[in-house]
Amino acid sequence: MAIDTQPVLVECFAAGSNGATVPATSGANFGISSLGTADGMLFDAVTISAGQAMTYDTATVPGLTLCKIVTTGTGSVFGMYDSAGLLTNAAATQWFRLWLYWPSNPSAAQQVHAMLVSGTRAADVVINSNGTVSVRNAAGTVIVTTTTTIPLGALFRIEGYITSSATVGQVELKLYTSPWSATAAETQTSAANLNTTGGALNQVRFGAATAATAGLTWDQWGCAVSVSGYIGPGAVVQQMICGGPASSGFTVISKPVGGTSLRLKVATDAGLTQNVTFVSAVTPDTYGYTRHVVTGLNPFTRYYCQLLDTPPGQSEMAAGSVGTCKTLAAAGSIQSFALAVASCINNADETPGPDTALNDWIAWGADLNVFTGDYGYQNPTFTDQPDQIGAFEYMTWFYGMEPITRQAWGFYCRSNHDSTTTAGGVNDDSDNTWTAANLVAVQEIFPQGTLGDQSNSPVHSLCQSWVQGRVRFILLDIRNVDRSPGANTDNGSKTMLGATQLAWLYSQLQMPEPLKVIITDTQWLGTTVPSLGADPELGKWWSYQTERAAIVSQMIASWSKMRNVCLIHGDFHGVAVATAAQSAANAGGQMPVYCAAPMRQTGAATINPGTFTSYYNNSGGECRFYGRVTFTDNGSNITVQYQGWDATNSVAQVTQTDVFPVNAGNLPARGLMGGM
Ligand SMILES: [Fe+2]
Repeated sequence: MAIDTQPVLVECFAAGSNGATVPATSGANFGISSLGTADGMLFDAVTISAGQAMTYDTATVPGLTLCKIVTTGTGSVFGMYDSAGLLTNAAATQWFRLWLYWPSNPSAAQQVHAMLVSGTRAADVVINSNGTVSVRNAAGTVIVTTTTTIPLGALFRIEGYITSSATVGQVELKLYTSPWSATAAETQTSAANLNTTGGALNQVRFGAATAATAGLTWDQWGCAVSVSGYIGPGAVVQQMICGGPASSGFTVISKPVGGTSLRLKVATDAGLTQNVTFVSAVTPDTYGYTRHVVTGLNPFTRYYCQLLDTPPGQSEMAAGSVGTCKTLAAAGSIQSFALAVASCINNADETPGPDTALNDWIAWGADLNVFTGDYGYQNPTFTDQPDQIGAFEYMTWFYGMEPITRQAWGFYCRSNHDSTTTAGGVNDDSDNTWTAANLVAVQEIFPQGTLGDQSNSPVHSLCQSWVQGRVRFILLDIRNVDRSPGANTDNGSKTMLGATQLAWLYSQLQMPEPLKVIITDTQWLGTTVPSLGADPELGKWWSYQTERAAIVSQMIASWSKMRNVCLIHGDFHGVAVATAAQSAANAGGQMPVYCAAPMRQTGAATINPGTFTSYYNNSGGECRFYGRVTFTDNGSNITVQYQGWDATNSVAQVTQTDVFPVNAGNLPARGLMGGM
């Protein structure tokens, strides 16, 4: 599968118990099931020759779990990443970082790190018997050596890079005798005309890469490799998701690999200097995540944030990039705002510009962002929580989702490819063996609004609501555990939402805000299309048309309280609109319907396209679309303008404007409800 982004690969050995052998992964889920742990990215493979040991070590440095290497033999002992696993963008230049702890100098030069080209060593790093550090070439010839010696019985850090080439190879080595310092005690840079084998460095080894001297003991930690530059000290923040905004705060969920005690700095400027506040320090949980709930903020204000880590015995330092989130307008306030909404990120769609819509979405900087699913088409069917988490981490890290989740996230409505569909694209249903693990994993990673299921623990669905000004957003979750199988006969006993969520929806529709916006991932309008076969239809609302009709009837019955309503969904691979009348004529209720998709997909051979007033799918070609929706509240009316935004061409391909009267006297005449 295509990979867009090579994140910093990092193994921090956080999850193991003292003395346990450091694991690797392999097999059918290679590259996914290695994730989802507090370690960070488990090595692709671990080699432990006879007589050697590589174990978790909590005894050597208080507050840190290290990786202890003990040699009683002379064989290799190392953990590695390679291009068959997570080292997906193997490049000729790779940067490395690791901390080491040596109780005494080795009796002979000992490898601690190496990079290889198709099994041939390009260069390695050794600790010499006098305590200096060298980089050697494939023949074992020393290229550079420090004059500074390593501190014994203390943690220290080395970083550097290796450029692989037969003619213009180069290495650089930095020794940090103060383990978290940004300033190297010594830097050694080679000439740029060396023979360092040549070709992409497609395997990186941490430990005794090819051979060891018997009788040695040392520790390594924070083993990392990057294709983009120096990694530096401290935690590698693999992801920071800022979302779930309220009028007084938001939630930041991060994975700071190698972080130990982290608080969150919050400010009103990207430089983090104005109106600074902090959220108290937390330690990463079982899966390596930190959760900071920011409170006490002003409404409808953009905030910026960054993690601060305090390694054991060290000063506090910034970790990772700056994130941002905007708080909601106070409930009931008259406030206009912009919403960005879309779904569908397919990493197989490379050109043009795979990230065009993602980048455009971030640059547009909407006040509120909602993603309606198909996060990465990974179809995670794992029945355990770590692997479900690992699947989402894989999509975030390798499919280029990290910038949008950090800078332009808000609320998330899962769709079939995030939650229910198997790898073959079949069984688009929700009562699957992996649904429960998926529900828990998504709550671990993604901030949520106020969940609608207040009666079950764990919750049966992630339906949730929030209020921005005088607009109530009601996000449905059809990927719940209460849903009837899609193939069941469509009658009163068949449910999409389940009784708890349905009752919640009805209560939400009667809340006091004059405009309700229902959000659902899958297509709302239309009827069964038998020619498609059963499976693609199982997740659509028309496979549950008895319940859909009941919802519409409930809207009619409660219209005087509900007042105005519209619906936004993704799923249909195009941008599309239906007027209230068009919706009513297609069994959808007297409400405008807007479809916003896909951000990175081909335009689909759309299902039931005739149910829309107009749509655009680029004739089935590549689409980099999202919905730009503006809500203009002038006190008397809330005007919603939907634009089906084509980010490739910077043009709205579909537009619809609907005016919703706020005052009861302006309610639509009941005669408009005819035909439902
Ligand atoms: Fe999709």
